[in-house]
Amino acid sequence: MIADVVKLAPSILAADFARLGEQVAEAERAGADRIHVDVMDGHFVPNLSIGAPVVRSLRRVTRLPLEVHLMVADPDAFLTEFAEAGADTLLVHWEGNANLHRTVQRITTLGKRAGVVINPATPAAVLEEILRDVEQVMVMTVDPGFGNQPFLATTLPKIGRVRRMVERVRPSCDVAVDGGIDPHTAPLTVVAGANVLVAGTAVFGAEDGVAAAVQRLRAGVHHGQDQPRRVASR
Ligand code: DX5
Ligand code: ZN
Repeated sequence: MIADVVKLAPSILAADFARLGEQVAEAERAGADRIHVDVMDGHFVPNLSIGAPVVRSLRRVTRLPLEVHLMVADPDAFLTEFAEAGADTLLVHWEGNANLHRTVQRITTLGKRAGVVINPATPAAVLEEILRDVEQVMVMTVDPGFGNQPFLATTLPKIGRVRRMVERVRPSCDVAVDGGIDPHTAPLTVVAGANVLVAGTAVFGAEDGVAAAVQRLRAGVHHGQDQPRRVASR
């Protein structure tokens, strides 16, 4: 069953930073598969968030893999720092990187999983040549920079296009989605071809707690699997 292999990566952007360790531990106990860390520099996106010291602290309190989503103008300047802080995966954007292949090689040389992210306005086709060199691709389902934005349904056909490309070129590569993922939108993305779901508000913003939120997301994905998976149509 596809739903069983769907991985959940709670994004700490929506967590209570005053009790971050506790919230991450809660997510781990609830069955999260990874922790997603959003790094913003106020240039690549119009917002600031956190840096490598937070990754270093989290590394000590969770066994879950830490995936770092670099929304920064010059990712190369920070790769070593995040690698040393304990990141397992480094996700870099296609947009604004004139030497993406070199960046990906640097991540691999640091012994980390490399991933490439594309924004809503960026076509799937730009991933074609870099796909062989990465372990993960990520389709932004909102414009990056902020949590709690509405899911862009226009990205669904693109998720399908990315999945078909991955099946053809590098079947082991994860296809992640990030932004506006909740129990309603999660199954749509899984049906379209995603196997990693990043969710911030839907996990850490839930009034009934992280465990209930994780369970709801998983239940939604299972339910969505009653529909046929639309990956072969176009
Ligand atoms: C947006 C970030 C996302 C964000 C998702 O720029 O990359 O990871 O935390 O937040 P939600 O799930 O609230 O849309
Ligand atoms: Zn993110």
